[in-house]
Amino acid sequence: MNTDKLQKTAKAMLVADKGLLAMDESNPTCNKRFAAVGIPQTAEFRRAYREMIITTPGLSKSIGGVILYDETIHQKLTDGTPFIKAATDAGMIPGIKVDAGTSPLALHPGEKITEGLDGLRDRLDQYAKMGLGFAKWRAVIIIGDGIPSKACIDANTHALARYAAECQEAGLVPVVEPEVLMDGKHSMQNCFEVTENVLRTLFEQLYIQDVAPEGIILKPNMVVPGLSCPIQESVEEVADATVKCLLRTVPAAVPGVAFLSGGQPAELASARLNAMNNRFEGQLPWALSFSFARAIQQPALELWRGKQENVSEAQQALLHRANCNRAARNGQYSAAMEKK
Ligand code: 13P
Repeated sequence: MNTDKLQKTAKAMLVADKGLLAMDESNPTCNKRFAAVGIPQTAEFRRAYREMIITTPGLSKSIGGVILYDETIHQKLTDGTPFIKAATDAGMIPGIKVDAGTSPLALHPGEKITEGLDGLRDRLDQYAKMGLGFAKWRAVIIIGDGIPSKACIDANTHALARYAAECQEAGLVPVVEPEVLMDGKHSMQNCFEVTENVLRTLFEQLYIQDVAPEGIILKPNMVVPGLSCPIQESVEEVADATVKCLLRTVPAAVPGVAFLSGGQPAELASARLNAMNNRFEGQLPWALSFSFARAIQQPALELWRGKQENVSEAQQALLHRANCNRAARNGQYSAAMEKK
């Protein structure tokens, strides 16, 4: 394993206050988002959507890496440029989602396990040869009555660690994503406890599998109250709880933490990231950044609606969210940015 190279890639992905753009929705997820705004659910519309995103002028000022989906890396821009080359030429490191989605966890009703380890090593070798710099795997942890179970946390973090080890062996930076879902009426304290447990277990599993912490990026959830919890803490309280949880669990050797947005409203995700970087400036061992999908793309998707004449307006909305999140990386975001 070439830890220096992995570390260099991980740092380049988040350099200069940049973050990651997750444009790696699986076909069913992408189709669901298209259906909600009346866009036809075809490979050509998915390709056109990704072209709109990746050709946004100036995007690489705020985006250091783009997470693609397997369908996309075999597609081309209208002018014939393959997506991997388009991202690289634009100054963004291309990466790829490599998990195969979730299945029910046996004997554990209501819980999920992420699939995709079978044959992964060969896929990773191919992806590295194609010029990709990193890969992503998402595990899903659900909070509910009596869950998550130890079985669910152990199985999912073990799979994440095996995936991460295979990535590092192939020379790809693993973006390690254990997502504690926001759905439910649980409290922020409950989310804190579950997230702490998941991250402690995860880093133990990564250690057991000899994964170099210098060569990963952690993609966690923020510590937030459940979407239907009656008590919704302030931006500052969420920032403090999230940083406290990460300081307890994430080794200082990890170069970067890039949050998922998880369905938070786009502006709230920016405000919370901003508060963390603002309140803990100079006190954190890792970069605190973003790896949002919905919180960057959703406004642009709603403007685009599958129509060529809307491309420019949608790109402006996308760039705006990317720039807001870059500002949030150094505590410079403010609600006033949204009014410009
Ligand atoms: P969201 O930011 O929409 O949660 O997506 C992040 C992601 O990549 C999920 O795997």
